Amino acid sequence: MEKVIVLDFGGQYNQLIARRVRECSVYCEVKPYTTPLAALKKEAPIGIIFTGGPNSVYAPDSPQVDPEIFRLGVPILGICYGCQLLAHHLGGKVSPATDASAREYGKTETYYDGGCALFRGLPETGVSWMSHGDYMEKVPDGFVLTAHSDNCPNVAIADETRRFYGVQFHPEVNHTENGVKMIRNFLYGVCHAKGDWTMGDYCKTAIAGLREKIGSGKVLLALSGGVDSSVAAALLAEAVGNQLTCVFVDHGLMRKNEGDEVEAAFAKWDVNFVRVNAEKRFLDKLAGVTEPERKRKIIGEEFIRVFEDEARKIGKVDYLAQGTIYPDVIESGLGSAATIKSHHNVGGLPDFVDFKEIVEPLRMLFKDEVRQLGRELGLPEYLVTRQPFPGPGLAIRVIGEITKEKLEILREADFVFRDELHKEGADKSLSQYFAVLTSMRSVGVMGDGRTYDYTLALRAVNTSDFMTADWARIPYDVLDRISTRIVNEVGSINRIVYDITSKPPATIEWE
Ligand code: XMP
Repeated sequence: MEKVIVLDFGGQYNQLIARRVRECSVYCEVKPYTTPLAALKKEAPIGIIFTGGPNSVYAPDSPQVDPEIFRLGVPILGICYGCQLLAHHLGGKVSPATDASAREYGKTETYYDGGCALFRGLPETGVSWMSHGDYMEKVPDGFVLTAHSDNCPNVAIADETRRFYGVQFHPEVNHTENGVKMIRNFLYGVCHAKGDWTMGDYCKTAIAGLREKIGSGKVLLALSGGVDSSVAAALLAEAVGNQLTCVFVDHGLMRKNEGDEVEAAFAKWDVNFVRVNAEKRFLDKLAGVTEPERKRKIIGEEFIRVFEDEARKIGKVDYLAQGTIYPDVIESGLGSAATIKSHHNVGGLPDFVDFKEIVEPLRMLFKDEVRQLGRELGLPEYLVTRQPFPGPGLAIRVIGEITKEKLEILREADFVFRDELHKEGADKSLSQYFAVLTSMRSVGVMGDGRTYDYTLALRAVNTSDFMTADWARIPYDVLDRISTRIVNEVGSINRIVYDITSKPPATIEWE
């Protein structure tokens, strides 16, 4: 399979570049800029992309490349810092932008030379997303200028003979009009890609690879019901059938019908599906606990204990499977991007499971690709498109002390909320939405009587990374229908509020 290498110089959009390349049906991998040239050569890439990065190329400790890379005969696209790196190494000059003219940030009207392979067939004017404080004072020999803005003459450079291209802006972000088409032009027009990265092919190859690796070995997987572990389980189920045991710990903190849905999704495979009903175990441990972090810790620990108990019953296995995906791999040190992990996963590795090796069949896939693979494997859409659900589940959506009764109330109310949004088709445009039982009671009136019942909060947000989020503008009439249904159908709730805080200052969850 043909491959593009994205050489990572620490920029914040690096994963996005890789995703865009794959969206163009070309396989690519992110490698740190420190990867030795010999290792890069071995990959036989059809093209290399230098990413952006926070440094200045002329600074003493800035990330550099082995200049031999320019003699490989492989096309290179430099983005932002990557573009300056090209200029710096090939005889140009990059210096700090001293006046406002060359420093650019944000959406910028840009004029492209349609004769350049990168911009061929695209409109000659459009908005691009800039974020640079350095300026290419001298363009290297052999290069021509192929784009400019009103303030900056050197927005893009090209040496069509050596097939080197550099852009100061970020074609990978949505703000750049036709940015993905520029990347596509690089891949197909310059690197002559065939576009052989399809999920159907990947699925077949991955299954064959897993069969070869696992042989007649036994595999154990902890299934949470989230997208990643479900798709990993489905892939392994397809590959090795009943050599796979899935342990699904039902901690009693899931949403309505969720446990049954997960179980039903795996009914078509001949795997050993172990559903552990551990509700009582978890609720006993959580009794009287009110502090959110303590809840998380208790649930995380108990989860491992339950899993270990099951693993002990199963005995020795050859492989422990995990649903690690590519962004986790990149974030945990493969790249140099200073990314902050967005969530705190329950769990960790169990200590007492007897296995030889870990197998991570989704290690090279982005989230969208994982979903696509899930579809390819015939997993139902409700599992494949599932919104993120925290490991501790509803335990952190019942504020303060958790009881079985409160969980039941929340489960029903949350179901109505989701059901109405689904009917409206509004759920597709929301990143995450759920109900929170505040545990606060207030006075109300129902019929002729006074009530003293719970206040329920509804939360819906839009976000691209879950590190920041905007509260969703759900139409009032939809909120109205939801409110009426919940009060009428659920009981014990007499007041409903909608959370209109973004993150920051609030978090997405309430605990
Ligand atoms: P916050 O509340 O920190 O949430 O804005 C960001 C994202 O992380 C999810 N979240 C969790 N996920 N275990 C998880 O697996 C947790 O303890 C946890 N807490 C928050 C939250 O649902 C949101 O998607």
